[in-house]
Amino acid sequence: MASQASQASIAPQAESEQPLLSVQDLKICIQMDNGEMKAVDGVDFEIKKGKTLGLVGESGCGKSLTSRAIISINPKECETTGQIVYHSTSEKTLNNLNLLSLDPRGKQIRSIRGRKIAMIFQEPMTAFSPMYTIGNQIMESILIHRTKNKKEAKKIALEMLSKVGISDQEKRFDQYPHEFSGGMRQRAMISMALSCNPELLIADEPTTALDVTIQAQVLELMKGLQKEFGMAILLVTHDLGIIAEMCDEVAVMYLGKIVEQSTVDEIFYNPKHPYTKGLLKSMPKLGTDRNKRLDSIEGTVPMAINLPPMCGFYDRCTDRIEGVCNVQAVPKTQLSDNHMVRCFLYKDKNEGE
Ligand SMILES: Nc1ncnc2c1ncn2[C@@H]1O[C@H](COP(=O)(O)OP(=O)(O)OP(=O)(O)O)[C@@H](O)[C@H]1O
Ligand code: SF4
Ligand SMILES: [Mg+2]
Repeated sequence: MASQASQASIAPQAESEQPLLSVQDLKICIQMDNGEMKAVDGVDFEIKKGKTLGLVGESGCGKSLTSRAIISINPKECETTGQIVYHSTSEKTLNNLNLLSLDPRGKQIRSIRGRKIAMIFQEPMTAFSPMYTIGNQIMESILIHRTKNKKEAKKIALEMLSKVGISDQEKRFDQYPHEFSGGMRQRAMISMALSCNPELLIADEPTTALDVTIQAQVLELMKGLQKEFGMAILLVTHDLGIIAEMCDEVAVMYLGKIVEQSTVDEIFYNPKHPYTKGLLKSMPKLGTDRNKRLDSIEGTVPMAINLPPMCGFYDRCTDRIEGVCNVQAVPKTQLSDNHMVRCFLYKDKNEGE
Protein backbone atom coordinates (compact mmCIF):
# COMPACT_ATOMS: atom_id res chain seq x y z
CA MET A 1 0.00 0.00 0.00
CA ALA A 2 0.98 3.67 0.05
CA SER A 3 2.10 3.20 -3.54
CA GLN A 4 1.72 6.81 -4.59
CA ALA A 5 1.51 8.46 -1.21
CA SER A 6 3.10 11.85 -1.11
CA GLN A 7 5.59 13.44 1.24
CA ALA A 8 5.66 12.53 4.93
CA SER A 9 5.41 16.05 6.30
CA ILE A 10 2.62 18.40 5.34
CA ALA A 11 2.61 22.22 5.39
CA PRO A 12 1.97 23.24 9.02
CA GLN A 13 -1.42 24.52 10.23
CA ALA A 14 -2.08 26.62 13.33
CA GLU A 15 -2.12 24.30 16.38
CA SER A 16 -5.66 25.25 17.47
CA GLU A 17 -7.15 24.44 14.04
CA GLN A 18 -5.56 21.05 13.76
CA PRO A 19 -7.74 17.98 13.87
CA LEU A 20 -6.13 14.86 15.31
CA LEU A 21 -6.44 13.11 11.96
CA SER A 22 -7.23 14.43 8.55
CA VAL A 23 -8.09 12.05 5.72
CA GLN A 24 -7.79 13.67 2.30
CA ASP A 25 -8.83 12.21 -1.05
CA LEU A 26 -8.37 8.64 0.14
CA LYS A 27 -8.70 6.15 -2.71
CA ILE A 28 -8.41 2.39 -2.44
CA CYS A 29 -8.41 0.39 -5.69
CA ILE A 30 -8.34 -3.38 -6.01
CA GLN A 31 -7.58 -5.12 -9.31
CA MET A 32 -10.28 -7.73 -9.95
CA ASP A 33 -10.60 -10.21 -12.83
CA ASN A 34 -13.33 -8.05 -14.43
CA GLY A 35 -11.69 -4.65 -13.88
CA GLU A 36 -10.52 -2.23 -11.24
CA MET A 37 -12.72 -1.90 -8.18
CA LYS A 38 -12.78 1.61 -6.71
CA ALA A 39 -13.67 0.39 -3.24
CA VAL A 40 -12.92 3.77 -1.65
CA ASP A 41 -13.18 6.70 -4.01
CA GLY A 42 -12.00 10.09 -2.79
CA VAL A 43 -12.92 10.09 0.88
CA ASP A 44 -12.25 13.18 3.03
CA PHE A 45 -12.93 13.60 6.74
CA GLU A 46 -11.40 14.92 9.91
CA ILE A 47 -11.40 13.48 13.39
CA LYS A 48 -11.20 16.07 16.15
CA LYS A 49 -9.31 15.54 19.38
CA GLY A 50 -11.45 13.85 22.02
CA LYS A 51 -14.51 13.62 19.72
CA THR A 52 -16.33 10.75 18.05
CA LEU A 53 -16.88 10.53 14.31
CA GLY A 54 -19.30 7.87 13.09
CA LEU A 55 -18.80 6.24 9.70
CA VAL A 56 -22.08 4.68 8.63
CA GLY A 57 -23.32 2.89 5.52
CA GLU A 58 -24.55 -0.42 4.14
CA SER A 59 -22.38 -3.49 3.89
CA GLY A 60 -19.60 -3.25 1.30
CA CYS A 61 -19.51 0.57 1.02
CA GLY A 62 -15.86 0.74 2.12
CA LYS A 63 -16.03 1.49 5.85
CA SER A 64 -13.56 -1.15 7.00
CA LEU A 65 -11.09 -0.52 4.18
CA THR A 66 -11.15 3.19 5.04
CA SER A 67 -10.62 2.66 8.75
CA ARG A 68 -7.94 0.02 8.33
CA ALA A 69 -6.06 2.25 5.88
CA ILE A 70 -5.39 4.63 8.78
CA ILE A 71 -3.06 2.14 10.42
CA SER A 72 -1.93 0.47 7.17
CA ILE A 73 -3.35 -2.98 7.82
CA ASN A 74 -5.21 -3.57 4.56
CA PRO A 75 -3.86 -6.43 2.44
CA LYS A 76 -1.33 -5.45 -0.20
CA GLU A 77 -3.73 -5.81 -3.14
CA CYS A 78 -5.44 -2.65 -1.82
CA GLU A 79 -3.68 0.13 -3.72
CA THR A 80 -4.04 3.19 -1.56
CA THR A 81 -3.49 6.85 -2.43
CA GLY A 82 -4.28 10.19 -0.83
CA GLN A 83 -3.16 11.55 2.51
CA ILE A 84 -3.90 10.58 6.09
CA VAL A 85 -2.34 13.33 8.15
CA TYR A 86 -1.81 12.65 11.82
CA HIS A 87 -1.29 15.44 14.35
CA SER A 88 -0.19 13.75 17.53
CA THR A 89 -0.96 15.80 20.62
CA SER A 90 1.70 14.11 22.71
CA GLU A 91 4.67 13.60 20.41
CA LYS A 92 6.21 16.30 18.26
CA THR A 93 7.90 13.83 15.88
CA LEU A 94 4.47 12.41 15.06
CA ASN A 95 2.95 15.77 14.27
CA ASN A 96 1.92 16.60 10.70
CA LEU A 97 2.79 13.12 9.51
CA ASN A 98 1.25 11.56 6.41
CA LEU A 99 0.67 8.00 7.61
CA LEU A 100 0.26 6.76 4.05
CA SER A 101 3.84 7.70 3.27
CA LEU A 102 5.18 5.28 5.88
CA ASP A 103 6.32 1.74 5.18
CA PRO A 104 3.35 -0.40 6.38
CA ARG A 105 5.80 -2.82 8.02
CA GLY A 106 8.23 -0.13 9.17
CA LYS A 107 9.23 0.99 12.64
CA GLN A 108 7.40 4.31 12.60
CA ILE A 109 3.90 2.99 11.82
CA ARG A 110 4.44 0.14 14.31
CA SER A 111 5.21 2.70 16.98
CA ILE A 112 1.89 4.43 16.21
CA ARG A 113 -0.25 1.32 15.73
CA GLY A 114 -1.49 0.09 19.09
CA ARG A 115 0.23 2.85 21.07
CA LYS A 116 -1.19 6.04 19.54
CA ILE A 117 -3.93 4.67 17.31
CA ALA A 118 -5.59 1.49 18.53
CA MET A 119 -8.25 -0.58 16.81
CA ILE A 120 -10.96 -2.90 18.00
CA PHE A 121 -12.87 -5.25 15.73
CA GLN A 122 -16.26 -6.92 15.55
CA GLU A 123 -14.76 -10.28 16.37
CA PRO A 124 -12.39 -10.20 19.35
CA MET A 125 -10.81 -13.49 18.34
CA THR A 126 -9.06 -11.54 15.54
CA ALA A 127 -7.24 -9.58 18.24
CA PHE A 128 -6.38 -12.48 20.56
CA SER A 129 -4.33 -15.57 19.88
CA PRO A 130 -5.97 -18.71 21.31
CA MET A 131 -2.49 -19.91 22.38
CA TYR A 132 -1.80 -17.37 25.13
CA THR A 133 -3.67 -16.18 28.19
CA ILE A 134 -5.65 -12.95 27.97
CA GLY A 135 -3.42 -11.38 30.64
CA ASN A 136 -0.24 -12.24 28.80
CA GLN A 137 -1.51 -10.71 25.60
CA ILE A 138 -2.58 -7.46 27.24
CA MET A 139 0.75 -7.33 29.08
CA GLU A 140 2.68 -7.99 25.88
CA SER A 141 1.16 -4.91 24.27
CA ILE A 142 1.99 -2.79 27.34
CA LEU A 143 5.58 -4.12 27.36
CA ILE A 144 6.03 -3.19 23.70
CA HIS A 145 4.58 0.28 24.00
CA ARG A 146 4.58 1.56 27.56
CA THR A 147 7.09 0.08 29.97
CA LYS A 148 9.83 -2.53 30.02
CA ASN A 149 9.04 -3.42 33.65
CA LYS A 150 7.01 -6.66 33.80
CA LYS A 151 5.61 -6.01 37.28
CA GLU A 152 4.38 -2.58 36.27
CA ALA A 153 2.96 -3.96 33.01
CA LYS A 154 0.99 -6.59 34.91
CA LYS A 155 -0.34 -3.94 37.30
CA ILE A 156 -1.54 -1.79 34.36
CA ALA A 157 -3.13 -4.85 32.69
CA LEU A 158 -5.03 -5.76 35.86
CA GLU A 159 -6.18 -2.16 36.28
CA MET A 160 -7.43 -2.09 32.70
CA LEU A 161 -9.34 -5.37 33.14
CA SER A 162 -10.97 -3.88 36.19
CA LYS A 163 -11.81 -0.63 34.31
CA VAL A 164 -13.71 -2.58 31.66
CA GLY A 165 -15.77 -4.26 34.37
CA ILE A 166 -14.09 -7.66 34.52
CA SER A 167 -14.17 -8.86 38.12
CA ASP A 168 -11.80 -11.35 39.70
CA GLN A 169 -9.06 -9.98 37.47
CA GLU A 170 -6.18 -12.04 38.96
CA LYS A 171 -7.97 -15.26 37.98
CA ARG A 172 -9.18 -13.91 34.63
CA PHE A 173 -5.65 -12.70 33.81
CA ASP A 174 -4.48 -16.34 33.57
CA GLN A 175 -7.38 -17.59 31.48
CA TYR A 176 -7.35 -18.25 27.73
CA PRO A 177 -9.67 -16.42 25.28
CA HIS A 178 -11.97 -19.47 24.91
CA GLU A 179 -12.64 -19.34 28.66
CA PHE A 180 -14.19 -15.87 28.29
CA SER A 181 -17.77 -15.28 27.11
CA GLY A 182 -18.25 -13.21 23.91
CA GLY A 183 -19.06 -10.04 25.87
CA MET A 184 -16.10 -10.52 28.17
CA ARG A 185 -13.73 -11.08 25.24
CA GLN A 186 -14.99 -7.82 23.74
CA ARG A 187 -14.30 -6.04 27.03
CA ALA A 188 -10.85 -7.63 27.23
CA MET A 189 -10.09 -6.48 23.68
CA ILE A 190 -11.13 -2.93 24.60
CA SER A 191 -8.92 -3.06 27.68
CA MET A 192 -5.99 -4.22 25.51
CA ALA A 193 -6.65 -1.43 22.99
CA LEU A 194 -6.86 1.20 25.73
CA SER A 195 -3.99 -0.05 27.86
CA CYS A 196 -1.57 2.20 25.98
CA ASN A 197 -3.75 5.34 26.25
CA PRO A 198 -4.23 5.80 22.51
CA GLU A 199 -5.09 9.22 21.10
CA LEU A 200 -7.44 7.60 18.61
CA LEU A 201 -9.51 4.46 18.96
CA ILE A 202 -10.84 2.97 15.73
CA ALA A 203 -13.82 0.78 16.55
CA ASP A 204 -15.06 -1.26 13.57
CA GLU A 205 -18.53 -2.64 14.39
CA PRO A 206 -17.39 -3.15 18.00
CA THR A 207 -20.72 -4.43 19.28
CA THR A 208 -22.39 -6.09 16.28
CA ALA A 209 -21.64 -9.61 17.52
CA LEU A 210 -23.03 -8.94 21.01
CA ASP A 211 -26.54 -9.23 22.38
CA VAL A 212 -28.39 -5.99 23.02
CA THR A 213 -27.77 -5.73 26.77
CA ILE A 214 -24.04 -6.38 26.48
CA GLN A 215 -23.97 -4.03 23.47
CA ALA A 216 -25.32 -1.19 25.60
CA GLN A 217 -22.80 -1.94 28.35
CA VAL A 218 -19.85 -1.97 25.95
CA LEU A 219 -20.95 1.36 24.39
CA GLU A 220 -21.32 2.90 27.84
CA LEU A 221 -17.90 1.61 28.71
CA MET A 222 -16.34 3.17 25.61
CA LYS A 223 -17.99 6.51 26.37
CA GLY A 224 -16.77 6.41 29.97
CA LEU A 225 -13.23 5.57 28.95
CA GLN A 226 -13.28 8.27 26.29
CA LYS A 227 -14.19 10.82 28.94
CA GLU A 228 -11.49 9.56 31.27
CA PHE A 229 -8.69 9.35 28.70
CA GLY A 230 -9.79 12.11 26.29
CA MET A 231 -9.25 9.96 23.23
CA ALA A 232 -10.96 10.45 19.87
CA ILE A 233 -13.03 7.62 18.39
CA LEU A 234 -13.74 6.64 14.81
CA LEU A 235 -16.82 4.48 15.15
CA VAL A 236 -17.66 2.30 12.16
CA THR A 237 -21.15 0.86 12.11
CA HIS A 238 -24.19 0.20 9.94
CA ASP A 239 -26.41 0.96 12.93
CA LEU A 240 -27.77 4.52 13.14
CA GLY A 241 -29.00 3.88 16.69
CA ILE A 242 -25.40 3.47 17.81
CA ILE A 243 -24.43 6.59 15.89
CA ALA A 244 -27.12 8.61 17.69
CA GLU A 245 -25.93 7.29 21.03
CA MET A 246 -22.22 7.80 20.56
CA CYS A 247 -21.21 10.34 17.94
CA ASP A 248 -20.53 14.06 17.63
CA GLU A 249 -20.24 13.98 13.85
CA VAL A 250 -21.34 11.55 11.18
CA ALA A 251 -20.09 10.65 7.71
CA VAL A 252 -22.56 8.67 5.61
CA MET A 253 -20.82 6.44 3.09
CA TYR A 254 -22.23 4.94 -0.09
CA LEU A 255 -20.35 3.02 -2.77
CA GLY A 256 -16.90 4.18 -1.70
CA LYS A 257 -17.83 7.85 -1.28
CA ILE A 258 -19.00 10.03 1.58
CA VAL A 259 -22.39 11.29 0.41
CA GLU A 260 -23.31 13.37 3.45
CA GLN A 261 -21.40 14.62 6.45
CA SER A 262 -22.42 16.78 9.37
CA THR A 263 -23.06 16.92 13.09
CA VAL A 264 -25.16 14.14 14.56
CA ASP A 265 -28.08 16.57 15.12
CA GLU A 266 -28.04 17.77 11.51
CA ILE A 267 -27.93 14.22 10.15
CA PHE A 268 -30.87 13.12 12.30
CA TYR A 269 -33.04 16.25 12.22
CA ASN A 270 -32.09 17.82 8.91
CA PRO A 271 -30.88 15.04 6.60
CA LYS A 272 -30.48 16.03 2.96
CA HIS A 273 -29.22 13.10 0.91
CA PRO A 274 -31.94 10.66 -0.25
CA TYR A 275 -29.71 7.79 0.94
CA THR A 276 -29.38 9.24 4.45
CA LYS A 277 -33.15 9.76 4.53
CA GLY A 278 -33.63 6.13 3.48
CA LEU A 279 -31.29 4.90 6.21
CA LEU A 280 -33.14 6.96 8.82
CA LYS A 281 -36.49 5.61 7.63
CA SER A 282 -35.24 2.06 8.01
CA MET A 283 -34.26 2.66 11.64
CA PRO A 284 -36.48 0.93 14.21
CA LYS A 285 -38.35 3.49 16.33
CA LEU A 286 -39.45 3.29 19.93
CA GLY A 287 -43.15 2.54 20.25
CA THR A 288 -43.63 1.16 16.73
CA ASP A 289 -45.48 -2.09 16.19
CA ARG A 290 -42.83 -4.78 16.43
CA ASN A 291 -44.63 -6.92 13.85
CA LYS A 292 -44.69 -4.12 11.27
CA ARG A 293 -42.04 -4.47 8.57
CA LEU A 294 -39.40 -1.77 8.57
CA ASP A 295 -38.92 0.35 5.49
CA SER A 296 -35.73 -0.60 3.79
CA ILE A 297 -34.08 1.06 0.85
CA GLU A 298 -35.09 -0.82 -2.25
CA GLY A 299 -32.47 -2.27 -4.56
CA THR A 300 -28.90 -3.29 -3.98
CA VAL A 301 -25.58 -1.50 -4.03
CA PRO A 302 -23.84 -1.95 -7.40
CA MET A 303 -20.25 -3.26 -7.54
CA ALA A 304 -17.72 -0.44 -7.74
CA ILE A 305 -16.19 -1.80 -10.96
CA ASN A 306 -16.15 0.09 -14.28
CA LEU A 307 -18.81 2.49 -13.04
CA PRO A 308 -19.73 5.34 -15.42
CA PRO A 309 -19.51 8.92 -14.09
CA MET A 310 -22.95 9.26 -12.48
CA CYS A 311 -24.58 9.08 -9.06
CA GLY A 312 -24.08 5.59 -7.62
CA PHE A 313 -27.45 5.79 -5.87
CA TYR A 314 -29.35 6.59 -9.12
CA ASP A 315 -31.13 3.24 -9.57
CA ARG A 316 -32.41 3.27 -5.98
CA CYS A 317 -33.24 6.95 -5.68
CA THR A 318 -36.87 8.07 -5.79
CA ASP A 319 -35.77 11.71 -6.35
CA ARG A 320 -33.45 11.02 -9.31
CA ILE A 321 -33.35 13.51 -12.17
CA GLU A 322 -32.91 11.77 -15.48
CA GLY A 323 -30.39 13.46 -17.75
CA VAL A 324 -28.68 15.04 -14.74
CA CYS A 325 -27.91 12.42 -12.10
CA ASN A 326 -27.07 9.66 -14.59
CA VAL A 327 -24.76 11.54 -16.93
CA GLN A 328 -22.07 13.08 -14.74
CA ALA A 329 -20.18 12.64 -11.49
CA VAL A 330 -21.86 14.27 -8.47
CA PRO A 331 -19.92 17.18 -6.97
CA LYS A 332 -19.87 18.00 -3.26
CA THR A 333 -22.07 20.82 -2.02
CA GLN A 334 -21.14 22.60 1.18
CA LEU A 335 -24.52 23.62 2.62
CA SER A 336 -22.95 25.25 5.68
CA ASP A 337 -19.68 25.18 7.59
CA ASN A 338 -20.47 21.76 8.94
CA HIS A 339 -22.87 20.19 6.46
CA MET A 340 -21.70 18.62 3.19
CA VAL A 341 -23.89 16.71 0.76
CA ARG A 342 -23.11 15.03 -2.55
CA CYS A 343 -26.37 15.19 -4.51
CA PHE A 344 -27.64 17.15 -7.55
CA LEU A 345 -30.74 18.26 -5.65
CA TYR A 346 -28.51 20.75 -3.79
CA LYS A 347 -26.04 21.61 -6.54
CA ASP A 348 -26.84 25.33 -6.50
CA LYS A 349 -27.08 25.67 -2.75
CA ASN A 350 -23.41 26.13 -1.93
CA GLU A 351 -22.77 28.14 1.21
CA GLY A 352 -23.07 31.85 0.57
CA GLU A 353 -24.71 31.46 -2.83
N1 LIG B 1 -8.97 -7.77 -0.07
C1 LIG B 1 -10.04 -7.56 -0.84
N2 LIG B 1 -10.13 -8.07 -2.09
C2 LIG B 1 -11.20 -7.84 -2.88
N3 LIG B 1 -12.24 -7.10 -2.51
C3 LIG B 1 -12.23 -6.57 -1.28
C4 LIG B 1 -11.14 -6.78 -0.36
N4 LIG B 1 -11.39 -6.12 0.79
C5 LIG B 1 -12.61 -5.54 0.62
N5 LIG B 1 -13.10 -5.80 -0.62
C6 LIG B 1 -14.37 -5.30 -1.17
O1 LIG B 1 -14.36 -3.89 -1.03
C7 LIG B 1 -15.65 -3.39 -0.71
C8 LIG B 1 -15.58 -2.60 0.60
O2 LIG B 1 -15.22 -3.47 1.65
P1 LIG B 1 -15.32 -3.09 3.20
O3 LIG B 1 -14.86 -4.28 3.95
O4 LIG B 1 -14.57 -1.82 3.43
O5 LIG B 1 -16.87 -2.85 3.38
P2 LIG B 1 -17.67 -2.43 4.71
O6 LIG B 1 -18.33 -1.13 4.43
O7 LIG B 1 -16.75 -2.49 5.88
O8 LIG B 1 -18.78 -3.56 4.77
P3 LIG B 1 -19.38 -4.36 6.07
O9 LIG B 1 -20.43 -3.45 6.66
O10 LIG B 1 -19.96 -5.59 5.46
O11 LIG B 1 -18.25 -4.65 7.00
C9 LIG B 1 -16.55 -4.62 -0.63
O12 LIG B 1 -17.20 -4.77 -1.86
C10 LIG B 1 -15.59 -5.76 -0.39
O13 LIG B 1 -16.11 -6.98 -0.90
S1 SF4 C 1 -27.71 12.91 -7.23
FE1 SF4 C 1 -29.72 12.40 -8.07
S2 SF4 C 1 -29.84 10.16 -8.04
FE2 SF4 C 1 -28.18 10.78 -6.71
S3 SF4 C 1 -29.06 10.89 -4.68
FE3 SF4 C 1 -29.19 12.95 -5.52
S4 SF4 C 1 -31.19 13.04 -6.53
FE4 SF4 C 1 -30.77 10.87 -6.14
MG1 LIG D 1 -16.66 -3.73 7.56
